[in-house]
Amino acid sequence: MSTALITGASGGIGKAFAVYMAARGMNLVLVARSEAKLNQLATDLQSKHNIQVDVLIKDLTEPGATNAVFDYTQKQGITIDFLINNAGFGDYGDFAQSDENRQTQIVQLNILALVNLTHKYLPLMQQNRSGNIINIASIAAFQPIPYISVYAASKAFVLSFSQALWAENRNYGVRILCSCPGPTETNFFTEAKFPEAIAAKNAQMSTPETVVQDAFRALEKGDSVVVSGGFANNAIANLSRIVPRQTLVSFLEKQFKA
Ligand SMILES: NC(=O)c1ccc[n+]([C@@H]2O[C@H](COP(=O)([O-])OP(=O)(O)OC[C@H]3O[C@@H](n4cnc5c(N)ncnc54)[C@H](OP(=O)(O)O)[C@@H]3O)[C@@H](O)[C@H]2O)c1
Repeated sequence: MSTALITGASGGIGKAFAVYMAARGMNLVLVARSEAKLNQLATDLQSKHNIQVDVLIKDLTEPGATNAVFDYTQKQGITIDFLINNAGFGDYGDFAQSDENRQTQIVQLNILALVNLTHKYLPLMQQNRSGNIINIASIAAFQPIPYISVYAASKAFVLSFSQALWAENRNYGVRILCSCPGPTETNFFTEAKFPEAIAAKNAQMSTPETVVQDAFRALEKGDSVVVSGGFANNAIANLSRIVPRQTLVSFLEKQFKA
């Protein structure tokens, strides 16, 4: 039986991954900070699908958190077949006036925790010549975005890092996928304190379930990247290939200004 480790599994896209994978008989290791939500999800999925679900309450921005996750799975003798690096958040606003601690935490969670967990589990997957890593970036990865500058840059990192690893690992039987969702119905916009007017421009939102289905379809095909959310999001992701970067970022500054 396969086991999936999912970060940020207490809600949104991470929870949708947990539900999807549990329904396919996979055991789960769920990581996030919200103890009650994770325990409830674990109880529901265990009773419905007769699987093993381990819950790890961790703030992945804290030093040592990824070591603790890895040590736990090693001590329990759990082989991770799917690593879903999903936990992440953004912070809307003018960078100069933003909370430095929050910006640092975006880097710690969206980049460092993802790199550290990948670095721990990938060698084991290579040894087994089998394994899957899905890193959740965003369509924000394809261009700089004013007023969510650190967030968009963090996702550009995830996209670049993931595609490099996809190429490195093709001959090891380890599949690496970068999932790039467009606007999706989760707690993301509230958590990032997006102004209503800006969030409302994303009227056409995907569901977390669509993001998960798109990811597994792309993983099966052996793709390195998938943009979720249909034609419009694919067009946005490709704009930076056609429009000069400075023109594009000037346009986005107007779109994202409150
Ligand atoms: N929704 C969108 O429109 C959208 C679009 C593109 C990409 N994404 C990406 O999708 C991923 C999932 O976000 P979502 O949309 O599902 O948002 P969400 O509903 O806010 O979920 C975020 C998840 O990350 C966890 N998390 C946050 N801070 C954490 C920390 N310090 N340590 C451990 N876990 C933490 C949260 O759990 P706790 O609060 O319990 O810790 C929660 O489970 C993120 O990487 C996001 O950037 C979202």
